Amino acid sequence: MKHFSRSPECVFYVCCGSKCKKSGGKQLYKQLKGEVKHRHLKRQVQVIKTGCTDRCKMGPVIAVMPKNEWHLQVSEEMAVGLINECSPRHQKA
Ligand code: FES
Repeated sequence: MKHFSRSPECVFYVCCGSKCKKSGGKQLYKQLKGEVKHRHLKRQVQVIKTGCTDRCKMGPVIAVMPKNEWHLQVSEEMAVGLINECSPRHQKA
């Protein structure tokens, strides 16, 4: 069994199920991936696309682990704020 020597500080699970996709989930996923890459945060923040998380009426949905925070009806501005919270030393100016 392989173990990662460095775990990210935060993992963002972005719902890209059909309902969340329609309400902007896929766009949020792309935005977060781009933001992490742009800010060179790949070691600190990982962004993963998921299927439906059973909160369809409140989409788009992002779960942040290991905090176990569930963010509902997330806008692009909120998504950037989540990255700032996870990695305060690397906040966007
Ligand atoms: S599609 Fe995202 S919670 Fe169901």
